[in-house]
Amino acid sequence: MKYIKNFVLLFAVATLLLSCNSGNERVVELLIPQPAKTIIKSGRFTHDTPVVYFSNVSDSDKENLLELIKGVFPSATETLDSTESGVIRVKQLPYSNNATESYDLCVSRSSIDIEARTPAGLIYAIQTIAQLNYLSTRGVPCVIISDAPRFAYRGIHLDVSRHFYSVEFIKKQLDVMSFYKMNRFHWHLTDGAGWRIEIKKYPRLTTFAAWRPYNNWKEFWFGERLYCEQTDAKAKGGYYTQEDVKEIVAYAQKLNITVIPEIEMPGHSDEVLAAYPELSCKGKPYTSGEMCIGNEATYKFLTDVLSEVCELFPSEYIHIGGDEADHKNWKECAKCQGTIRAKGLKNEHELQSYLIQRIENFLSTKGKKLIGWDEIIEGGLSPYATVMAWRGEAGGIKAAQMGHDAIMTPGNWLYFDAYQDNPATEPEAIGGYLPLSRVYSYEPVPDSLSLEEKSHIIGVQANLWTEYIQTEEHVEYMLYPRVLALAELGWCMADAKDWERFLPAANRHLEILKDKGINAHQISNSVIAEEVVDVEKQKIELSFRCDKMPVDIRYTNDGSEPTIESELYNAPISIKDSAIIKVAIFQNDERITEVQTFTPLYHKAIGKKVSYNIPHCSHYVAKGEATLTDGYNGGASYGDGSWQGFNKDVDVVLDMGEVTPIREIEVNFMQQAGPWIWFPEYVDIYMSEDGETWRNVKHISNDVPRDTEGMLIKNFGFAGEERCRYIRYTAHQLPKEGAYMFIDEIKVK
Ligand code: ACM
Ligand code: ZN
Repeated sequence: MKYIKNFVLLFAVATLLLSCNSGNERVVELLIPQPAKTIIKSGRFTHDTPVVYFSNVSDSDKENLLELIKGVFPSATETLDSTESGVIRVKQLPYSNNATESYDLCVSRSSIDIEARTPAGLIYAIQTIAQLNYLSTRGVPCVIISDAPRFAYRGIHLDVSRHFYSVEFIKKQLDVMSFYKMNRFHWHLTDGAGWRIEIKKYPRLTTFAAWRPYNNWKEFWFGERLYCEQTDAKAKGGYYTQEDVKEIVAYAQKLNITVIPEIEMPGHSDEVLAAYPELSCKGKPYTSGEMCIGNEATYKFLTDVLSEVCELFPSEYIHIGGDEADHKNWKECAKCQGTIRAKGLKNEHELQSYLIQRIENFLSTKGKKLIGWDEIIEGGLSPYATVMAWRGEAGGIKAAQMGHDAIMTPGNWLYFDAYQDNPATEPEAIGGYLPLSRVYSYEPVPDSLSLEEKSHIIGVQANLWTEYIQTEEHVEYMLYPRVLALAELGWCMADAKDWERFLPAANRHLEILKDKGINAHQISNSVIAEEVVDVEKQKIELSFRCDKMPVDIRYTNDGSEPTIESELYNAPISIKDSAIIKVAIFQNDERITEVQTFTPLYHKAIGKKVSYNIPHCSHYVAKGEATLTDGYNGGASYGDGSWQGFNKDVDVVLDMGEVTPIREIEVNFMQQAGPWIWFPEYVDIYMSEDGETWRNVKHISNDVPRDTEGMLIKNFGFAGEERCRYIRYTAHQLPKEGAYMFIDEIKVK
């Protein structure tokens, strides 16, 4: 009894404390990435001119940490008295191998205590203070935080070959990366569109291969793909001098960021071979993007370049690319074929692997480790290589199973060159669809791995390829706010990720990013509708959400415009056959968006059987044979599991089960020229009562040009008065091998 009484009392006190602290709690919930452990206290640290007391910190670290603290409290000064009021005590504890980035932070009204076992941990404690200070209206909320990252590797990749960006811009991004506790900058310095790092021994890499006589990558790529002399009046491009590189590396180091350079080989090397054609199989410029692996001069070149690179970058890892090498020239090259024979290699995969292994051996003489894109597994993986999985997760899984470390950067979740909102209203991107929510949903450690294998997944990285990203403002637009989601993938344990907590925080951080002069993509305030089709109960459950916060969604179902009086959306809406739902967003009792109309439809073919006279493709299967009549529309991404891909003609038969009156058939195709997805050349629709005698009810020819920019959706359907049991739907003629048609649904009304 006494125990219960005490418990009730304790609970009452705790509740009281909690309500006092709820302001602080709300602030702490806005931290990105969310710390591992927090205890919320009441009160704030409001000293504007704090003093900083260091304990066990080296002089050089002191200088750096004080500068970071001054970023939060501009008038902070060092003190030798640890008891002064308004003191920030910064203490470095003895080093421990398993706490290389963790920190403890205790904020009280009178002091802030920071403890960590490395300068990295101290830097992150200060970044947490910086965020708390930004997020609260006054002072730093009192809180106890004990924090550590989930993964050791938390990276961002930036392609500076397709377009070149300034040193100042890179430094600005490093600042933001550290603010979000990211610790690896993967600098994609060389590619077929331009070489970007000064190599003293090979000056033509930067007097020639770093310059193009075009305004941007698109003009280069769809033009003649030429380079030019730096002195050419038309020259556009640039490169980082070795002094620039040193400046960036040193700047990054102070923010606990390791800069990992990527020197691409043997593919994506057109620019090298234009400058030094003797390294290509044909010995002539503009004949190949792949270096000749059968030529010793190639090894001389690569090891010379890497020698200078290893001197410049303290990073343990050097990235050597290794992706997307075409074998065509190697197959026709006497030198390459000679090496295959002489070394007893089976094929061109092993030829590439031979090169990578030689490079790995060379790097190890410099005390460096090799990372490469997941193609480096093909043809045998070098014994100590680390794999960066980009073509899905398979490469990372295989590497981990072989006992190699792997970093997950799968295209479907972490390629930040994809659209983050409706392609119709976004600046042109390379394709794909990767909204913030999808980035956040990614889990880097595959379930299929054993515990031991899981330990080889050492981290995550987002990649930003910049074919379509000409300006620095546009780079920021593609990075943010998706970097916020990435930061939590890398830092937070899987069960600490929480979209409901994260989304309001991301909304708030957009204001901080703006304050930092970052041109972030803004979370759309349009309504996102999701349908759940219940075949059993023959109905659709329609739900709405909006990622912009805070807002109210109001709706009508009588065709009228929503007003402040209209129903407030708070739970999914059930629809039996069809409805017209109009929604809009309200903020402070005012409509702030255009009205959006949704027309959910439980159409007649849902759940009906579809047979394939020609199979769909084996990669984009969606839900297999159920896909075209499952009631689900595809979204902006062809890989979203609702779109089904066809790499030959479409030829399917839909069985309605009985003779049915048909007024309309709607079949939407996607077109997106970038990834080779096209509308059919023509469509024929047939009907039959018995499945044997068919009549053609519609022939439609496509009138949309193949090279139309952006993502298009078009209905190739039928309207009229018909009755039938079977519908045969055929779509014909893709323009080339490797191209696709995509359909999401055959809607029958
Ligand atoms: C890559 O996206 N080619 C690594
Ligand atoms: Zn060759």
